[in-house]
Amino acid sequence: MQKISAAITAVGGYVPEYRLTNAILETMIDTNDEWIKTRTGVEERRILKGDGLATSDMCVPAVLELCEKRGIKPEEIDCMICATVTPDMFFPATANIVCDKIGAKNAWGFDLSAACSGFLFALTNGAALVESGRYKKVVIVGADKMSAIVDYTDRTTCILFGDGAGAVLLEPSEDGSGVLDSLLKSDGGGRDFLHMKAGGSLKPASVETVTAKEHYIYQAGPQVFKAAVTAMADAAYDLLQRNNLTGDDIAWLVPHQANKRIIDATANRMGLAHEKVMLNIQRYGNTTAATIPLCLWDWEKKLKKGDQIVLAAFGGGFTWGATLIKWAYDSK
Ligand code: UT7
Repeated sequence: MQKISAAITAVGGYVPEYRLTNAILETMIDTNDEWIKTRTGVEERRILKGDGLATSDMCVPAVLELCEKRGIKPEEIDCMICATVTPDMFFPATANIVCDKIGAKNAWGFDLSAACSGFLFALTNGAALVESGRYKKVVIVGADKMSAIVDYTDRTTCILFGDGAGAVLLEPSEDGSGVLDSLLKSDGGGRDFLHMKAGGSLKPASVETVTAKEHYIYQAGPQVFKAAVTAMADAAYDLLQRNNLTGDDIAWLVPHQANKRIIDATANRMGLAHEKVMLNIQRYGNTTAATIPLCLWDWEKKLKKGDQIVLAAFGGGFTWGATLIKWAYDSK
């Protein structure tokens, strides 16, 4: 009997309407369109505006779209894993809130915190649940409302991030398609370079922490860049090597969208033509856990059954890795 693998059988996504363009940022901080485009590749990002709206409110339309495309009801979902670093609240998990909002009454769920690698880590966990044979419909959603933790007076970070959510459905497959391999890594030593200083048990929120702006993202950009540019490329390359594949065997690279220069380095290391690289950083910026599923959402119609696809990420933690999948369906 063919081994059960976990295939992506539907994709959903959501980005808010409001576009924060480079031109608008030029009026807010000392920056310019040329610097942002050449150093990062970002042209605009989407921002979730409105009181009372949170990460779960972006997950809901993404997951409902996926259900509609696959022709399933939310009650049929067995499990939901939400990768995010901007949960609606510390607890309960955003996954639980999403399940409640969409009526996924039969699902259990939890959040997974692995920053920009969150979607890959969650996908690997979800795939294992499906491969076990116990779960038939597992939803993986990567979502972040980065605007909630960005300091819009800090020009080194506020130009980078945006808000969004992307989701995939995992189901059992016996035709060889699905999640084939994952090479995942983490190194807590990287925490000094990318973190939020306060709000956790180390430094609970206080008037002092708010005044010191310690509830925003802190990033030592050049140090993170240096680590990311080698680690993401190495993970993707090593994944190919251990599966006896070359860039020619790969239909698409789906990279985390943090910086176009990091993406180019990864594609070069894999020996991959740049037409095979999904790139939407110019439209959405860095949406943290949402970048990879949002790429799949944008490119879904171009994907063909049997396509071998590499997903790759690097982010806070540090966390990083690459996942090989064989696409399971032709889009209608
Ligand atoms: O997704 C999670 C993982 N994160 C990443 O992978 C991000 C990794 N890091 C990066 O992508 C890059 O380091 C950044 C895009 C964040 C920064 O680019 P950089 O080429 O590393 O620039 P830098 O920080 O070395 O700054 C170069 C110069 C500095 O000026 P001086 O000291 O040379 O005079 C900065 O002050 O650019 C200046 N600068 C800016 N200028 C205009 C920094 N931010 C801006 C800005 N506009 N927004």
